[in-house]
Order: sequence, then structure tokens, then C-alpha cells
Amino acid sequence: MRTIALYGTLAALITAALILITTQGGPAFATHTYDRLKHPKSKPDRAGPSISHSQSHFSPAKQWEYNYKRDRRNYGLSEEQCTAAFPKLYKEVDRAVTYRKKRGNVTSEELDPSWRGDGIVRAMIHDNQVYIIDAHGIWDANHRPRSIATLHSLNRAVTATSEQLPDVEFTFTDHDSALRPEDSGRTTWGYSRLANQESVWLMPDFGGLRSYSELQSILEADEDDFIDKNPKLIWRGSLNVGSGHDAREGLIRYSLNQPWSDVQTLDWHNNTDIDEKLLSMQEHCEYMFTAQTEGNTYSGRLKYLLNCHSVLLAHDMNFIEHFHHLLQASGPEQNYVKLKRDFSDLQRQMSKLGKPANMPATKSIADNALKTFRERYLTPAAEACYWRALIRGWASVQGFEPQVWEDDGKAVNDWRGEMKTKRKMRGVPFESYVIMEEVEWEIPSKPRKVCIEEG
Ligand SMILES: *[C@@H]1O[C@H](CO)[C@@H](O)[C@H](O)[C@H]1NC(C)=O
Ligand SMILES: *[C@@H]1O[C@H](CO)[C@@H](O)[C@H](O)[C@H]1NC(C)=O
Repeated sequence: MRTIALYGTLAALITAALILITTQGGPAFATHTYDRLKHPKSKPDRAGPSISHSQSHFSPAKQWEYNYKRDRRNYGLSEEQCTAAFPKLYKEVDRAVTYRKKRGNVTSEELDPSWRGDGIVRAMIHDNQVYIIDAHGIWDANHRPRSIATLHSLNRAVTATSEQLPDVEFTFTDHDSALRPEDSGRTTWGYSRLANQESVWLMPDFGGLRSYSELQSILEADEDDFIDKNPKLIWRGSLNVGSGHDAREGLIRYSLNQPWSDVQTLDWHNNTDIDEKLLSMQEHCEYMFTAQTEGNTYSGRLKYLLNCHSVLLAHDMNFIEHFHHLLQASGPEQNYVKLKRDFSDLQRQMSKLGKPANMPATKSIADNALKTFRERYLTPAAEACYWRALIRGWASVQGFEPQVWEDDGKAVNDWRGEMKTKRKMRGVPFESYVIMEEVEWEIPSKPRKVCIEEG
């Protein structure tokens, strides 16, 4: 019998979620737009609801417009609505397509997941159904929740649409950074990439905390007005991280003993420390100023911090997530404050932002962040639109037809004694996979036990 061992306590899970790390400013690629509204491989539309352009013969044509309150949790916006609601969302998809057009179409050989020892899933979408082909090393406390959360989020985008999606086959990895240095040039979908890792297709990462939508609901109901918030800079985190260590040290150094600072380090091995200092994301939003630092690679908390109606201060980031190009460091649309990677300009910026005379300008940065992120580009509706754009973009450079059948099948005699081919489909449908967490299992199914080890 097979037993899935889950290592680490639930606390460790939450911990891992909270210390997810991440990213950087816009890549220096020319934006190219493949025609998202025309995808040669897709079958005729399943007659999804089309946008009504006019209410009656007597009124002028009226374009559909995104309405935050009404549409933010609509996972099934049409492609046309997705374009109207989130015009600037698809830059990373367009970039990956452009890159792939230069390099040549994706081949099926590139989908072999063996280059990445663990945390990689090979999947297929056929006729608007997600199939898992190979789930590679995703059983531990780190990979399991991430890969399952990503599959749920993808599946939601696929099942919510009434439009026909092209058939695609791909891999995604649930590692913080899709590629290690030795993986240079590999093609896969991932949560983050470095600017020079052009072969990575960025996918949304809305795992991590309990629920992203839940946080949005809590904030909508209970968040204070900006002016009533605690006028300090909030940050909690560990210094025990990978590539973002230098940035975190800089933040600690330049906020030390400042009257505006509530910056504190956490020691994840010290329960007293965690009990005293750990804050929920909603508690972070009670502050006027939030700080973002990279961790092991990108920092998963950025998308949560951007949901606060607060001013985000972030250093120059190395890792890119799918929405980073929407961060604006200057101009009338400014939605965050960009600092040097070592935070040496933190004190100057904080005294400028906190001056009473500058409050209207400071608040407008928070207002812009709210409008851009919580109310538009980081909504569940935008997430689903992005997934479908990723699927369509990938299909436009997919140099093979995904194979739906395992092989040519076996010839058997049917009830009339005539020869007939029996075939088996590849992989397992998403709905079965998330119950069994296996691509192959015995029938009838055996009892399964998830062991939670103390540790
Ligand atoms: C654990 O954390 C508490 C509270 O921050 C601190 O007073 C104590 O010294 C820490 N213990 C160790 C062993 O670091
Ligand atoms: C690349 O793939 C696309 C989509 O399958 C196809 O239309 C195109 O002809 C392919 N290009 C080449 C050069 O094979």
C-alpha cells in the first residue's frame, strides 16, 4: 500500500507560505502582441456569451466595461472582456511568445520533466479539460500544496470559460525560481524568473496564504482609511534566506532605531519569537507603509502587500513575477516607492513621505496601488484571464499536436466479432488527480493515509 508522507507540521506549512520570496521591475523586451483574439488551432467557438455592444437600436453602441464590484471574482470573462478589463496584463505572455518565435517552436521533447529532479508537473489541456500526465517529486510539505494550488487555479480558469481553448501540453515547476543556473534555456512555466531567463513562461502564483480572495474580502470590510493607519513602516521576516539576504540586511540596518520603524526580524526556530512578533497579512495592512524584500528568490508576499491600501516600499528586484511590469515608481500613476537594493535611501524617503505637507501625494501612491492591484490586476478575474492568455500564447508556438492517446491501442473483437481498436487516454483528469494525487492507481482504490509528522 502506498502511503504519502507529509513532512513538517501545519505550522511549517504556514511558515513556508509566509516566507515565500520574490522579484523585479519590467524586463527590457519589446512588447509584441500576437493576436490573442485569433488562434488558428482552436476549434469553433462554443458560442460563449458575446459582449452586447448595444442595448437597443435607439442607443449608441455601448462597450462592455469592467466593474470591480461586479466582475472581480468572475473567472469566466470572455477573451474580449479580459482584454478590455486588463489591457496591460499580458506583457509576460507576449514576451515569452516573441522569444519563442525567435528560437523556434516548442518541441514535445522539451516537455520531458527529468531535467528538474522534483517539483515539476507535466500536464495537458484537451477539449477544455485539464489532464495531469506526470507529477514529478511533489510530495513534500513544500511542493505538494504549491502544485495542487496551481492546478486548482489553472483548472478554474479552464472550466470557467465558455470559449474553446486550444489543446496544449506543457510543464510547470512549483519552485520559487523556475530555473537553477544549470537549467539555463529550459522551457517551462514558473512563478518567477530572472531577467535573462527568457525561456520561462510566467504563471500566476496565488497560493501561499490561506486564501487570496479571503484577504480581499476582509480588507474590503475592515480596512481603515489610509489617514487613520499606523504611520509606520512594517516588515517582518527572517534573515536566514538565499539571494535576498543583502536586501533584508540593508532594510534592518537603515530602519534601526528610527521613530517610523516597525521593522523586526523573525526567528522561525524560536516559538516565543514567532508568537510575539508574527503578524497576519491583514495586520500588515494596518500600517501606512509596507516594505518588500526578496528572500530565497522572489517574495510571494508582494502580491498580498499590494492589496493593502498602503504605500509599498521595495528595493530594486532581481526576480520577476507576471505582474511586476505594472509597478510604477514615478509619475502620476506611481503605485509604489522604489529604493536602492541596499535601502540606503530609506531614511530620506521615509521623511519625505511622512511630512504632513506631502500626505496628499503619499496617499495618492496608495490610492493608485489600490486601483491597479487589488481592484484590477490582482483580482481572481485577472488571474483567470492571464491563465487563458498563457494557454493561447503557448499554443501559438507549440510545434506539435498534443497526443491525447497513450498509443495506437489494441485491436479487439467487438460484440459482432468485428475488429475494433481500444485506446486509452494519456494522464488523468484533474478532478481524479486531486482526489488520488496519483497519475496511476489501483482499482478498486486502496485506503490511503496522509502522515503528518511532528517536526
Ligand atoms: C526567543 O525569542 C524571544 C523573544 O524575541 C527572545 O527574548 C529570546 O531570547 C529568544 N531565544 C533564543 C534562544 O534566541
Ligand atoms: C509553429 O507552431 C505554430 C502553432 O502550432 C504553427 O502555426 C507554425 O506554423 C509553426 N511554425 C513553424 C516554423 O513550424
